[in-house]
Amino acid sequence: MKNTFAIALAFIIGIGSFLFVSNAQSGSTPKDGELSFPSDYEKFPKFLHGIQKPNAVRDLYVNPAGEKAHKGEAFPDGSVLVMAIFNPRKGTDGNFEKDASGKLVKDQIAKVYVMEKQKGWGKNAPKDLKNGDWIYSAFSADGKPIKVDYAKCRSCHLPLGESKDFVQRYDEYFEKRGGHGH
Ligand code: HEC
Repeated sequence: MKNTFAIALAFIIGIGSFLFVSNAQSGSTPKDGELSFPSDYEKFPKFLHGIQKPNAVRDLYVNPAGEKAHKGEAFPDGSVLVMAIFNPRKGTDGNFEKDASGKLVKDQIAKVYVMEKQKGWGKNAPKDLKNGDWIYSAFSADGKPIKVDYAKCRSCHLPLGESKDFVQRYDEYFEKRGGHGH
C-alpha cells in the first residue's frame, strides 16, 4: 500500500515537472512583435525626455523591474524599456515649431516601441541578431501591434553589445538617475 502511494506520488511529480519544464521552454516565450502592450508605461519612471530627432521627439521610460539595474550590469529579467515617439508640432506655415531653446515641441504621439526581457527569451531570436534576451515590439499610440521590420531594430541595437546590454542610452540611463542611490 505504502509502495503504491509512493509510485503514484512519483508519477504525479514527474508529470508535473514535465509540464512545468515544457511550458517554461516553449509556451510562454514571445517572438518580436508578440510582447503585450505595457499600457501603464506613462506611470513608469521616465529617464530621458524630449530627445530631438529630425522628424520626431522621443521619451524613454523604464519599468520598476528595470529600474533595479546596476551600472555595469545587464538589466534584470522582467525589465521593460519603452520609447514613446511623438510627431513634432507644425506651425501654420507647415514647418516644425521650435521652443525658446530651439527645440522641437511634441504634438500627437505617433507610436510606441518596446523592448522587454525574461530569462531565456533570446533563444527565439534570429541567429545572427541576438540581443541577449531582449524581444522587440512596435505599437500604435493606442497599443495595437504595427508592422515593422524587426531585423532593423535588432541590427541597430546589436552594436551596443553585451557591455551596454544592447540599450542605446545605457550610459545616460545611469547618469540621469544618479541620485537614486544605486
Ligand atoms: C537606426 C537605428 C535604430 C533602429 C532601427 C531602432 N532603434 Fe531603438 N533606439 C535607437 C536609438 C538611437 C535610441 C535612443 C533614443 C534616441 O537617441 O533616439 C533607441 C532607443 C530605443 C529604446 C529605449 C531603450 C534604449 O535602447 O535606449 C527602445 C525600447 C527601442 N529603441 C526600441 C526599438 C524598436 C522596437 C525598434 C524596431 C521597431 C527599434 N528600436 C529600432 C536606434 C534604433
